[in-house]
Amino acid sequence: MTARASSIDGRTFAFETSTTDAVPVGAYVTVSTDENVFLGQVLDAALTQAAAGGSVRSITGSGRLLSPSGDGGFDDATLGLADTELVTEHFTTALGSTAGLELGTLQTTTEVPALLNAKGFGRHTFLCGQSGSGKTYTLGVVLERLLLETDIRMVIIDPNSDFVNLGAVRPQESAGFSDSEYQRLSERYEAISPHIHVFGGEGSKGRLRAVFGRLSFEQQTMVLGLDPVRDAEEYNAFVRITRRFEEGDYTIDDVMAATRSTFADDARRLGLRIDNLGIQQQSIWAGKEAPLLNELPDDWRVMVADVGSLPSATESSIAAAALLAFLWEQRRRREPVLIVIDEAHNVCPQEPTDVNQALATEHVVRIAGEGRKFGRYLLLSTQRPSKVHRNVISQCDNLLLMKMNSAADLDTLSQTFSFAPSGLIELASGFQLGEGLAAGKIAPDPILFKSGRRLTVEGGSDVSSAWARRR
Ligand SMILES: Nc1ncnc2c1ncn2[C@@H]1O[C@H](COP(=O)(O)OP(=O)(O)OP(=O)(O)O)[C@@H](O)[C@H]1O
Ligand SMILES: [Mg+2]
Repeated sequence: MTARASSIDGRTFAFETSTTDAVPVGAYVTVSTDENVFLGQVLDAALTQAAAGGSVRSITGSGRLLSPSGDGGFDDATLGLADTELVTEHFTTALGSTAGLELGTLQTTTEVPALLNAKGFGRHTFLCGQSGSGKTYTLGVVLERLLLETDIRMVIIDPNSDFVNLGAVRPQESAGFSDSEYQRLSERYEAISPHIHVFGGEGSKGRLRAVFGRLSFEQQTMVLGLDPVRDAEEYNAFVRITRRFEEGDYTIDDVMAATRSTFADDARRLGLRIDNLGIQQQSIWAGKEAPLLNELPDDWRVMVADVGSLPSATESSIAAAALLAFLWEQRRRREPVLIVIDEAHNVCPQEPTDVNQALATEHVVRIAGEGRKFGRYLLLSTQRPSKVHRNVISQCDNLLLMKMNSAADLDTLSQTFSFAPSGLIELASGFQLGEGLAAGKIAPDPILFKSGRRLTVEGGSDVSSAWARRR
């Protein structure tokens, strides 16, 4: 094989091979000098003309040396494809005492498991890829593994009801694991299942509801669409009415009743507003019960907020904002909670379309900026990275990137997530279903993965395509 490599710093390398010995970008290679055999990863490669006008062509490129760490450059080393044992050993050793989350396998070497560093989820994570690239499926694999391998608690804001079955282990036939692996994983998972709680709209086992008086005063006025300047009189009537109640101990019906028990014109108009907006009819309002998370038993692991099952987008936004506000209020407990938001462009968009969405966005931005020191970690998933609030994305230290065709989006991601090698980000346009790139604290040596099997039942499945079957 005519493949030579050299390094100026012992950390990166440059190489040249003949076209017949080409090594693909992302591949793991050995770089052998007289003293050392390094493991490296190819990060870019291009075809070059060997001599002006000549027909001999070669491939030149560069990469990063992963191990052992060299302390100086070298020249004229031999480059070869690394065998699977060496790659497996590197990633297992790199984890040290931290739990590894088996996401699937590496793309280049499918015998090697793709392991994420569990501790990395103590930073904010951004998962993106175009529609149908396998984000929700892969997110499910990540969550299952976090449940199996760590103790972290999770609150999942689930706009498409995709995670309502996170507690239900698949039957073995459809799971596709080997007998022994299925046995091992399902037994452990079934012990966790009772600690997974799903809350949703009418008909769900647990109802997703908020007590009006327990929302922040700001959110209460947002629900009513009251502006302190534009609607000065009604706003003031609302302030007067709520002062009469004990803090947090009132419902929207109480407010309505109070507007009817006075002859003040501004209070009467406030009552009309509540009536006209149909706020009392929204299914999200609870009586005076305890807030949702307080209803959970002490040993809860997961709360799925199935906001997708609420009857209107407004109610979904109210629920998301109330939940995020609650998680933020409770931050001083310093209890690690992973806040998972699927379809994040609808929960914390760059340009919110209504006041409740604006409030939810404000909370996510705050958690993104300051949550980490209180143990509030974000895991956001979206197909529209450019629509998610900038101040949220800029705080993410982990990237999970799946297939993405848009060159403009890839360019922006490359700039935002500068820790991910741009040569690997560029590959995203060629990814297949379930394939992706992991980089950041969850993958200090970035990996190209193919997501593995799901242990639990996928929820919110796509509309059936049976209508197109050959008749
Ligand atoms: N690794 C995988 N193995 C097998 N099936 C997969 C895999 N990844 C995804 N799928 C299937 O492909 C389909 C699309 O995946 P998924 O719903 O995760 O995409 P998505 O990126 O979340 O799409 P959207 O943006 O529309 O929500 C689903 O039916 C899912 O079951
Ligand atoms: Mg999805």
